[in-house]
Amino acid sequence: MHEPRGTTASVAALPGLPPGVGAAGSLSARLFNDSIGGFAVAAADELGLLDAIAEHGTVDREAYAQEHDLHPPSLRAVTDALASAGVVAVAGDKVTGTTSFADVHATKGFFTWLLGGCGELLRTAGAVGRTANRHGRFIQRDATRISIGTADFGARFIDPVFDAMLDRDPPTRMVDVGCGSGSRLISALRRHPHATAIGIDVAPAAVALARARLVDAGLADRAIVIEADVHDLEHRPEFADVDFVCSFLMGHDFWPRERCVRVLDNLRRAFPALRSFALCDTYRSGRVPGTDLPILTLGFEHVHALMGQDLPTLDQWYEVFDETGWRVRHEYDLVLPPHSKIFHLTPDRGGDRR
Ligand SMILES: C[S@@+](CC[C@H](N)C(=O)[O-])C[C@H]1O[C@@H](n2cnc3c(N)ncnc32)[C@H](O)[C@@H]1O
Repeated sequence: MHEPRGTTASVAALPGLPPGVGAAGSLSARLFNDSIGGFAVAAADELGLLDAIAEHGTVDREAYAQEHDLHPPSLRAVTDALASAGVVAVAGDKVTGTTSFADVHATKGFFTWLLGGCGELLRTAGAVGRTANRHGRFIQRDATRISIGTADFGARFIDPVFDAMLDRDPPTRMVDVGCGSGSRLISALRRHPHATAIGIDVAPAAVALARARLVDAGLADRAIVIEADVHDLEHRPEFADVDFVCSFLMGHDFWPRERCVRVLDNLRRAFPALRSFALCDTYRSGRVPGTDLPILTLGFEHVHALMGQDLPTLDQWYEVFDETGWRVRHEYDLVLPPHSKIFHLTPDRGGDRR
């Protein structure tokens, strides 16, 4: 503690301001500090630190920085922010998970998706809110971080449900539309050793990542990844015997309604041998604004509003399935992401119903 040098006077309240403004525990201080804590979760995930703490319980941050060629003051700042948020406890250089660590570790993919993938969009929300600025490439997102984030929470919360579904209806030749990092192709090919697969994604960064991961997984001879836009996907010879199509966490990109109807019609034409379509997506919750929201919902609806993308409700999905002749054979409600389902769809054998 420092001794004051001169005479001191405490200022109890500033004129016109409520007492305690910005003080520890105030709403403003919590919001300010939690926003840094959220970014620290995304950073710690990118640096592999959260997995290291989950594995070892305690990590020495100086040793970790040295071992992974990290900037020690940055790592100290990230871990201090995590400690302020209550995710870890720091004693000297030892960083240990708190009782809340498992919750944050399990959901880290949502942070990586929101803050790693859409952080720039959130930062520029003010500029994006001006109509005059909404032209050209005004939406800046990081396709790689989005893919890594969705793959992380997908593996934990979606894949167990999807794997069971796939076991009941095994694919011969499978397509993943909007395949992102390719993680789902890899797990499906490992689970079904006689199947082959095609990944499709519009983002060159995601295509490159998926191709690299398939090579690393030793599965490059059983899968290809194509850079294409599902909105104008046409039949290709390699699609002829595709019997199973899936699409995870991008169905809302099919919308608005008229385009979604076109996409759902096109999928049946592009894949004439298709018998099952697993469509997994998060729908509009109808709960925003609210104070008791689970993880994701606010961020998901927030960034799509900034991008000018109207998210479909569940009823709107049912309407387009009816209109395009896709029958809902089964639907699986997911615990996380919230307000999300896997629809197991089959094409109406009556053909094009319109
Ligand atoms: C939220 S990520 C989900 C990635 C992956 N399906 C998963 O579950 O982890 C959405 C993916 O869809 C891709 N995508 C978006 N619009 C697309 C389009 N019109 N055609 C093809 N891919 C698209 C994006 O590039 C991104 O990789």
